[in-house]
Amino acid sequence: MNPIFPTLRLRRLRASAAMRNLVRETEINVRDLIYPLFIAEGKNVQQEIAAMPGQFRWSVDQLPGIIAKISAANIPAVLLFGVLETASKDETGSASWNECGIVQEAIRTIKRTAPEMIVITDVCLCEYTSHGHCGVVRDGRVLNDPTLELLARQAVSHARAGADMVAPSDMMDGRVAAIRAALDQENFFDTPILAYASKFASGFYGPFREAAGSTPQFGDRRAYQMDAANAREALREIESDIAEGADMVMVKPALAYLDIITRTRQRFDVPLVAYNVSGEYAMVKAASANGWIDEQRIVMEILTAIKRAGADLVITYHALEVAKAMSQ
Ligand code: PBG
Repeated sequence: MNPIFPTLRLRRLRASAAMRNLVRETEINVRDLIYPLFIAEGKNVQQEIAAMPGQFRWSVDQLPGIIAKISAANIPAVLLFGVLETASKDETGSASWNECGIVQEAIRTIKRTAPEMIVITDVCLCEYTSHGHCGVVRDGRVLNDPTLELLARQAVSHARAGADMVAPSDMMDGRVAAIRAALDQENFFDTPILAYASKFASGFYGPFREAAGSTPQFGDRRAYQMDAANAREALREIESDIAEGADMVMVKPALAYLDIITRTRQRFDVPLVAYNVSGEYAMVKAASANGWIDEQRIVMEILTAIKRAGADLVITYHALEVAKAMSQ
């Protein structure tokens, strides 16, 4: 029989900072953080994103500076997104598999600057297509199967440029299998796939779409991203991506989906990544700018919650600030 009050006093283990440190169950480690970077066309670009204070669009020539900071902060990995001018986009997003595209150049520059840095690339078409959808559009519909080949082409071109890992975020059925087959055919057997396996159609991506210029020109993404109401379906998505060969899986967004993180952790044994997305970051920054919250405290609480829910790794725009705060 478990003791009850007054034998049981749960406050005993909370009495001092030393005691609390001793029994803490979840700890944030900078080694578990992944920092997203937006890569812009042109030269000498370091342009702050309005809804994401402290985050920038960087041209490739500016990367060595920021990469040195990320590396010095001991953050092990970055996730790259390409941001294109409208004139560089087309119906199929062909700029995304250009061997000299901005992401491909960024990969080479980062691997030259910091060879130990894990470079993960977002594989998707929405930042490269004129219509802003994540796949091939015909008669106002986003087609699944014709999109797979384009995603595979993009993933292979990232691997060729030296990417350590590719992360498809499009939510087409069968993309993991298609990308795995294409990578293997080009002898990139050892390039892992991080699948954005359970990605919800979410209002929390708003600031990102402004940052990346990837808002769909018509309709929305609900016919391929998941319905926020569905947890069991999220587990089916994760199961199928693992079956297709995903080495790691992601739940995205993080905060409103902690239950999905927990259920995924309980059911599957692959490394689990959570994406603390742009809208989650923007809300913290806005409240903090108004003096309404203690930013540092809240960021640590958020990251702790994501880890406590079961994530191994967290993709977060707060990574650099957290690493700095933790090293002090
Ligand atoms: C799609 C993609 C998106 C994000 C990552 N990859 C946007 C979308 O699906 O519309 C969102 C990331 C964030 O909000 O921080 N390529």
